[in-house]
Amino acid sequence: MTETYRPTARFLHWTVAAIVLCMIPAGLIMTTEGLPRPVQDTLFIFHKNAGVIVGLLMLVRLAYRGAHPPPPLPASVPDWQARIARLTHGLLYALLILMAVSGFVRVTAGGFPLEGWDALGLPRLPKMEAVGKAASSLHWATAMVLIPLVLLHAGAALHHALVRRDGVFARMWPAAGR
Ligand code: HEM
Ligand code: HEM
Repeated sequence: MTETYRPTARFLHWTVAAIVLCMIPAGLIMTTEGLPRPVQDTLFIFHKNAGVIVGLLMLVRLAYRGAHPPPPLPASVPDWQARIARLTHGLLYALLILMAVSGFVRVTAGGFPLEGWDALGLPRLPKMEAVGKAASSLHWATAMVLIPLVLLHAGAALHHALVRRDGVFARMWPAAGR
């Protein structure tokens, strides 16, 4: 039988995936012109606070992955595909952390509220308009790389699940460990 990711790794993967798949459309919609104010405010509050949670979960994932390396891919996956998968996964980790950091800097250096974080009294950056603006550009540019990569990743995973049926999808799917 194919070796699977551990239950904790699968739980973290699907929690982050679900949040990010809601946050990307929220981010794109909340920045469009002409939205009713209450809708825009709700989307911003959701996006910023969920983003901080994603950033923290990615740090937990990195530590967990360091302690429990992922299982090897089945031998049926050609070398070049395994290399692309490894590169994609590494980039997804790096880009999500960069999204969270640039979002945090954009909001705190821009002088905007970060509701959950502020309520806990956690430290923020001082107001620095130029830094906030630079972080905003970085956040946008990173999103433009992240979005196609997420589509490529989910597409490849579904191709394994529905067409190749080679056990790769089952490695991450929650039912695998039952
Ligand atoms: C961690 C994963 C994150 C993802 C995938 C993500 C994704 C996005 C996307 C797709 C946009 C629309 C494109 C753009 O205008 O930049 C956006 C905008 C935005 N995001 Fe995020 N984001 C994340 C984290 C955060 C965090 C942690 C914060 C703040 C604490 C944040 C604050 C914002 C703000 C304020 C905007 C509006 C554009 C701007 O003012 O720069 N994001 N995000
Ligand atoms: C429909 C959506 C998704 C599906 C079907 C899916 C499926 C999978 C599968 C099957 C794997 C294991 C691949 C392998 O065995 O090598 C995996 C790994 C991974 N996925 Fe997803 N995924 C989805 C969404 C996402 C999203 C939205 C993100 C983050 C933006 C993400 C980030 C990752 C990462 C970082 C790994 C590597 C995990 C590790 O090795 O530590 N996935 N995904």
